[in-house]
Amino acid sequence: MDSIISITEDLFWIGNNDRTTDLFESLWPLPRGVSYNAYLLVDEKRVLIDTVKSNSIDTYIEKVDYLVQKYGKVDYLIINHMEPDHSGAISVLRTIWPEIKIIGNKKTAEFLKEFYGITENILFIEDGEELSIGKHRLKFFFTPMVHWPETMMTYEVTRQMLFSGDAFGGFGALNGGIFDDEVDLAYYEDEILRYFSNIVGKYSPMVQKAIQKLAPFQIRLIASTHGPVWRSDPREIINLYDKWSRHEAEEGVVLAYGSMYGNTAKMMEAVARGLNSEKLSTIRIHNVSGVHLSYLIRDAWKYKAVIFASPTYDTSLFPPMDHFVRMLERKSLKNRIMGIVGTYGWSGGGIKVLEELAEKHNWRLLDPTILAKCSPKEEDLRECFELGRKCVCRMKEEK
Ligand SMILES: [Fe+2]
Ligand SMILES: [Fe+2]
Repeated sequence: MDSIISITEDLFWIGNNDRTTDLFESLWPLPRGVSYNAYLLVDEKRVLIDTVKSNSIDTYIEKVDYLVQKYGKVDYLIINHMEPDHSGAISVLRTIWPEIKIIGNKKTAEFLKEFYGITENILFIEDGEELSIGKHRLKFFFTPMVHWPETMMTYEVTRQMLFSGDAFGGFGALNGGIFDDEVDLAYYEDEILRYFSNIVGKYSPMVQKAIQKLAPFQIRLIASTHGPVWRSDPREIINLYDKWSRHEAEEGVVLAYGSMYGNTAKMMEAVARGLNSEKLSTIRIHNVSGVHLSYLIRDAWKYKAVIFASPTYDTSLFPPMDHFVRMLERKSLKNRIMGIVGTYGWSGGGIKVLEELAEKHNWRLLDPTILAKCSPKEEDLRECFELGRKCVCRMKEEK
């Protein structure tokens, strides 16, 4: 069966590429699709590692059935993560093969009961516990809140392979190949960061803990639940997750703007000219009215500075800008340089939301905040240009 892919002679990828779902978690656009990676390890015991989303059950069961015919019945199903994009096939699996024992922790069991009413035939493991299945030894690491409380990782000790759940994953269905050395990684990197920043980024401190927990172990292969399987250089994805979860950023500025009648847009253009006058070319301009905020969050995670250019609406921030700022706040993105420009008609509002973000998460606010009444005048535009210049200087100072 072509769609079963051998990772080693006894480890198989049995996941599915979803190219039809528009929104992940009904929130995040999937223009390049997403993969739900699941695996079967064959030894004296046969072990499934995670399942797939409910929309992928048919193909998943077909693959499991094929391998059962070939290698014998499945003994265990390890659940590294209970979110339904990975636990969606458990009930059907159990209906067909009731003898499969589920391996998880106490929190896994809570979710199994509440989502699927499953309470029987569960093998509870403790953090750090090992299980031998023949020539392979499996070691379980609890990694709570990467991305749910029950989340854990499974490390195969003899071959040094890590089944990492959502950690080290990304958006983007797998186009033909599944390995990091078979796919166009440059094509995937933006989507991996968009996944990290929107789905996992809020839990950065827990990602850091997980990375520290893994540090003593050699890792030759990382098999995550989304995106490429890392076999040529697993350090590459660990280093990226490490950098992102430290909130480290690259030289560059995100200019997020909204403009109802073109006036705030003029201010944004002046800021952009100011940025560029200091030889900065990494400038990402996003119109908050038209770009999904997941892309804005991704770029805010990537670059060192964000400049907000917003009109006033109902005496507060322009609604799509307000949404963006509040999501940044919820995602707890820290340590950025911030600039604020904007327009107002009769009362300048909304700046408070931005100032709160700055205070809570250590964003350094550039001086001054520039607010123009109705439309920017020459002096306002000059100040906007100057703010752009200052932003680049500040980035250089903070190097
Ligand atoms: Fe998840
Ligand atoms: Fe997931």
